[in-house]
Amino acid sequence: MDTGRIARGMFASSSSHASSCPTMGAAPLGLCRPSVKASSARQQGRSWRSTAMHVQATVAERIGTSVSPYIQEPGKGLGFYTGTDGHLYVDNLRIDDIRTQVPDSPFYLYSQDRITANFKAYAAALDGLDHFVGYAVKANNNLPIMRHLQSLGSGAVLVSGNELQAAEAAGFDTTRTIFNGNGKLPAELRLAIDKGALINVDSEFDLENIAEAAKAIDKAARILIRINPDVDPQVHAYVSTGLANSKFGIRNSHLQWFLDRVRQEPLLELAGVHSHLGSTITKVDIFRDAARIMIRFVEKIRAEGFDIKYLNIGGGLGIDYYRRGDKIPSPADLVNTVRDLVADLGLTMILEPGRSMIGNASALVNTVTGVKTNGNKNFIVVDGSMSALLRPSLYDAYQHIELTAPSSGKQDTFDIVGPVCESADFLGKDRTLATPKAGDGLVVHDAGAYCMAMASTYNLKMRPAEYWVSNGELKQIRRGETLQDHLQLFEGF
Ligand code: LLP
Repeated sequence: MDTGRIARGMFASSSSHASSCPTMGAAPLGLCRPSVKASSARQQGRSWRSTAMHVQATVAERIGTSVSPYIQEPGKGLGFYTGTDGHLYVDNLRIDDIRTQVPDSPFYLYSQDRITANFKAYAAALDGLDHFVGYAVKANNNLPIMRHLQSLGSGAVLVSGNELQAAEAAGFDTTRTIFNGNGKLPAELRLAIDKGALINVDSEFDLENIAEAAKAIDKAARILIRINPDVDPQVHAYVSTGLANSKFGIRNSHLQWFLDRVRQEPLLELAGVHSHLGSTITKVDIFRDAARIMIRFVEKIRAEGFDIKYLNIGGGLGIDYYRRGDKIPSPADLVNTVRDLVADLGLTMILEPGRSMIGNASALVNTVTGVKTNGNKNFIVVDGSMSALLRPSLYDAYQHIELTAPSSGKQDTFDIVGPVCESADFLGKDRTLATPKAGDGLVVHDAGAYCMAMASTYNLKMRPAEYWVSNGELKQIRRGETLQDHLQLFEGF
């Protein structure tokens, strides 16, 4: 498709924005004064403004500081928000206007400014400490997004040789990358050592493979030992990784074996320790408890004569999936729990955020195919599905769902489902929404992390195109896959 046309299209010109502004003539898009109430507020029978102020007050009371990033002054939003006209916006562009420009549906839509803000929150939190932020590429491996994070100064956290090569293609300095995983292959290890990545040691056999790979290419390997602090992250079992029975990391009781073995191998340089507790963590004291345990390991390893430098406490910060202004720890909350300890010990701190870097910067934009009722269940059927966005089906995860425009349809409770031939194919359950019409837009929020990255072509629903808003303009950043892409895999067979 012609991305230039989209980039230069109606979104770039304020005069055409005026047409989206029902009551205000030439006001810039998104700055219209209220003409229609926001859909979520309407559901509760309150005006947008009173709802927002109520939530702001409640949140401010609870956290005593700034309000949730989702509560925006109308029309001045960063990322995704409801404008004063009740329509959904991203970075001042109305999503329904974007839908008319985009030939694909469903599609992923991102806010570049939100990604930038998320990165800057980490950079600001770490200011004054030796550090680097490693973006966990597994969360979203879109190349322009990776390039953007790299340009902001991010490092990268990788779990496969392909991710390492993609990071290099996106311009990341590979000496500021970390290679993680419990089943790293010899060829991947050789590549990682060759590129100067930090490598996390996950097990006895992994250490032997790293030593072998280093010898094979006659280059030193910089390693971190991945320790399980055995602190319960209080999250879904599938995203909990730092407990004693986890498949990741070493047996802490064998630490001495690892240290002795490293001492015997001149090509192994022990540079630090690593831990990753799990994902979607919403309690900051969990990080503090784990960091304290990790600091004890640092002290123990230093006492053995290793001059280790890095403390990597992984990723895992949750985001406000429910969008009700819950207090979610910020990067600053996280860093401040360990700032003094890290500074006192002269350590370089590494963080590995994925979800909190990219999660709230995207929505999956779908089109309603129809509405139906079976038994006592109402369904909104959309063109997106578990193939495009798996988290609800896989983890029963909640991601907030809204219609893109105000609707006079009757409020009801719906399951939002896709066309895939599985009862597990749902995007949300028991959601209160206005009854939409076929063709209406419906978004699944907070779809930046682990959504496109986990998309499949199940039922030959091809992986969606991706777009972002960058400097106020809509641009395509990945084409949608086609049936032709699929059929090509069989050419010659
Ligand atoms: N570092 C390591 C070693 C990890 O295993 C992970 C994620 C991260 C960093 C990034 O964690 P984050 O900041 O994104 O929480 N598919 C699941 C999430 C799996 C996360 C696995 N590890 C989901 O959709 O929720």
